[in-house]
Amino acid sequence: MGILEGKVIVLAGVGGIGDDLARYYFNEGAKLVFGDIEGEHAENLGKEIDPGGSRAVGTYLDGSQEASIQAMIESALSRHGRIDGFHCNFAFVPDGLRPEGLDIPMEMFDSSVRVNLRGYFLCSRLAVPAMIETGGGAMLYTSSSAATTASGTRFAYSMCKAGVQALMRNVACRYGPRGIRANAIAPGIIAHYKFRQGTEKFIEAAVQDTLMKTRPGNPNDIAATGAFLLSDQAGFISGQTIAVDGGQTHRP
Ligand SMILES: NC(=O)c1ccc[n+]([C@@H]2O[C@H](COP(=O)([O-])OP(=O)(O)OC[C@H]3O[C@@H](n4cnc5c(N)ncnc54)[C@H](O)[C@@H]3O)[C@@H](O)[C@H]2O)c1
Repeated sequence: MGILEGKVIVLAGVGGIGDDLARYYFNEGAKLVFGDIEGEHAENLGKEIDPGGSRAVGTYLDGSQEASIQAMIESALSRHGRIDGFHCNFAFVPDGLRPEGLDIPMEMFDSSVRVNLRGYFLCSRLAVPAMIETGGGAMLYTSSSAATTASGTRFAYSMCKAGVQALMRNVACRYGPRGIRANAIAPGIIAHYKFRQGTEKFIEAAVQDTLMKTRPGNPNDIAATGAFLLSDQAGFISGQTIAVDGGQTHRP
């Protein structure tokens, strides 16, 4: 028996880490509906994971659009009758490799906030009532070590990831008495198939920032933590941000 056996999980955002979240949650027994703005990629991943489509399906999702999130939630409810867990994982990082600080173009700042913070808020606003309606469940958010460290760049991204942790705590506090747990994962550098050639030095520097200094994170490090936090094994864990970063952000 997997730790997510019989649970209905909605995963918003696949990709480098998210593809393996989907595979891992499925292998732990979950019934899955997942989406990404790269709709064709999500659909193909669904066919790869569950060719019959009875237990996993991938679809188009724009996580910044209320109607699109609602459609994914309704798809999960009509297929499986309830939702037990909702993982917000998507990210749009226009300032990712840019050198700017406060001089970031404001359109870039706004588009980052619209997806990475407002989008996570919208997902919560729609998913939490749906889970309460069907007996409660777990919200999970992918934050980042960027929320609690400083690089002098990626202002928008790191502000959004810090905001996601505030969102998570407020969801946990307000809706805990109605059966909702909420937690966040803060990954450090997680190397995956989308990392381009030429990023080796960046990854090596990140490895040196960990306490073990042996390897960067991989998507399964996040998936194992996510599956645990979405499962009943984490039934007394709420309002927490779990760092999965090799100790990069260790603190008392
Ligand atoms: N890889 C890392 O080192 C790392 C470190 C810390 C945090 N994270 C976080 O982990 C999560 C996954 O990141 P990743 O490394 O897999 O990146 P990724 O770019 O591979 O995945 C993000 C996915 O979000 C999708 N997306 C973008 N805008 C969207 C929208 N409006 N609606 C729906 N989907 C949208 C993209 O198409 C992509 O598939 C993100 O939240 C990211 O911020 C990653």
